[in-house]
Amino acid sequence: MTRLSALLSLALGSLVLGSQDAFQTKCTEFADKIDIPNVKVNFAQYVQGGTNLTLDQVASCASSDGSSQSVSVDLCRVAMAVSTSNSSEITLEAWFPREYKGRFLSTGNGGLGGCIQYYDLAYTAQLGFASVGANNGHNGTSGKPFYHHPEVIEDFAYRSIHTGVVIGKELTKQFYDNGFDKSYYLGCSTGGRQGWKSVQKYPNDFDGVVAGAPAINFVGLLSWSAHFYPITGSPSSKTYLSTAEWKIVHNEILRQCDTLDGAKDGIIEDTDLCQPILETLICKSSSKNNTNCLSPEQVNTAQQVLSPVYGLNGTMIYPRMQPGSENLAAPIMYNGQPFTYSKEWWQYVVYNNPSWSAKNWNVKDAAAALAQNPYDIQTWHGDISPFQKAGGKVLHYHGLQDQLISSDNSKWYYSRVAKEMNMAPSDLDEFYRFFTISGMGHCGAGDGAYGIGQGSRSYNDNKPENNVLMAMVKWVEEGVAPDTVRGAKFSNGPGSEVEYYRKHCRYPRRNVFKGPGNYTDENAWQCV
Ligand SMILES: *[C@@H]1O[C@H](CO)[C@@H](O)[C@H](O)[C@H]1NC(C)=O
Ligand SMILES: *[C@@H]1O[C@H](CO)[C@@H](O)[C@H](O)[C@H]1NC(C)=O
Ligand SMILES: *[C@@H]1O[C@H](CO)[C@@H](O)[C@H](O)[C@H]1NC(C)=O
Ligand SMILES: *[C@@H]1O[C@H](CO)[C@@H](O)[C@H](O)[C@H]1NC(C)=O
Ligand SMILES: *[C@@H]1O[C@H](CO)[C@@H](O)[C@H](O)[C@H]1NC(C)=O
Ligand SMILES: *[C@@H]1O[C@H](CO)[C@@H](O)[C@H](O)[C@H]1NC(C)=O
Repeated sequence: MTRLSALLSLALGSLVLGSQDAFQTKCTEFADKIDIPNVKVNFAQYVQGGTNLTLDQVASCASSDGSSQSVSVDLCRVAMAVSTSNSSEITLEAWFPREYKGRFLSTGNGGLGGCIQYYDLAYTAQLGFASVGANNGHNGTSGKPFYHHPEVIEDFAYRSIHTGVVIGKELTKQFYDNGFDKSYYLGCSTGGRQGWKSVQKYPNDFDGVVAGAPAINFVGLLSWSAHFYPITGSPSSKTYLSTAEWKIVHNEILRQCDTLDGAKDGIIEDTDLCQPILETLICKSSSKNNTNCLSPEQVNTAQQVLSPVYGLNGTMIYPRMQPGSENLAAPIMYNGQPFTYSKEWWQYVVYNNPSWSAKNWNVKDAAAALAQNPYDIQTWHGDISPFQKAGGKVLHYHGLQDQLISSDNSKWYYSRVAKEMNMAPSDLDEFYRFFTISGMGHCGAGDGAYGIGQGSRSYNDNKPENNVLMAMVKWVEEGVAPDTVRGAKFSNGPGSEVEYYRKHCRYPRRNVFKGPGNYTDENAWQCV
């Protein structure tokens, strides 16, 4: 090597090193540059791709989600406390990837928490988004912090996400020279409700919203999940079904409904067509073997569980649980105990009485909660024309095996939007598309092709047809809207080999097996 080329390569080397250092330096120096009212920076930290981050046990809700998060790309992690009133605050993190694609994104939350969804921050930062995540105004998975603390309820209802978006956008503009071009949202469950809250209340926060299994009609939802216990009774009641007995119900429902879509694959494509007759399960008098049948009381329980819940005046509060979810729902919804989130809502929000017992919950309690509807947490407005006028796009999806939030409620919301806006589905398609995902449980898992890229646990690849978030990016940035959402059926859980694909239909179309060949052939299906 000549002296000159040695010098040159030295210079080049330090240039390369220098550019790496520039990002790192920018990151660590960023903390001192942030000067935004109500924002207190805890730290700004450079995280190298491949790091297994150890998380704050409180903010990550470590007991439920693990105390570590692996991060696959280089990024700058900024952690803050942001006050939202004189007696409340959110814990907020912004993750700025080195390989940045010019897009801002907010993640959401789940249940009544309280937890930054680090796995969504890692997932979206890996896809090149500058991403924010907040703790929704309180720590932990419980609703106890709501007790005598309306500001915390207000954060939970809408303010945490919106505050995170306002601050997050400001920080993104400060961190990257070119700021951002488009803003996105990705969330499911409570996160789905937060996405819809943004669409309804802050139509300019996002260009594209991906909202899954939304907990909208929120108070109705909590009433619905409270009403199962009075139906099933405790495990010693005659009305109770064990998990094994729910499996008998599930098998009978599949026997009656699986082939309505043309394929015997263990997956119900259109749950609306499934109106099972469960008296077939009553044990025959001649039967000596009672392990595959139920008592009339148990059949009655199953029928009530699969019926809507009505209020005092006879109007529907919440639609029925969709059939097909029995095995997933049995251990959590029909387990002979009051549902925790519902119990906590009446204890800490509706009645301010921690000793209130959910065992005697009835529709009068539903009426009290609906009348209260704090900070419009219902998230149930059908007129979303301000969002439409702002040019926003929303992709709504819901698993047809959802065990925690009935997909029938999403269909009800779609109908409300269509009627309140006086728009036919083909008009709504311009800015609002709703996809039912057969074989998907609550936000993921399930018996079918649930891998649609809604998170790291259902990730298949980055192609827009296989990934709802990248499909939204294509819709917003290229004007090409998704016709179907393609799901992967994993042979052995997330990340394992793909057994088959299925293209899920845009509501109100439904999937029908036309053949020829096997149900595993995605092209043998048609949306009609
Ligand atoms: C990260 O570290 C934790 C222990 O702190 C460990 O349990 C976990 O398996 C690690 N994750 C990865 C992806 O290495
Ligand atoms: C907090 O703010 C509210 C109004 O937002 C005000 O009524 C109250 O006096 C304030 N409390 C304190 C301690 O500053
Ligand atoms: C949540 O926990 C963090 C520590 O991880 C703490 O700094 C913050 O004050 C807590 N927030 C609330 C509302 O208690
Ligand atoms: C009862 O029926 C179940 C299911 O059909 C079967 O597995 C079991 O072997 C039967 N038991 C007896 C004692 O016949
Ligand atoms: C029935 O009650 C619900 C809420 O409890 C209310 O929204 C609705 O307007 C009532 N319907 C009628 C017909 O009074
Ligand atoms: C369809 O494929 C599945 C899974 O590969 C297989 O179990 C089944 O036997 C096939 N059915 C037909 C009719 O070929």
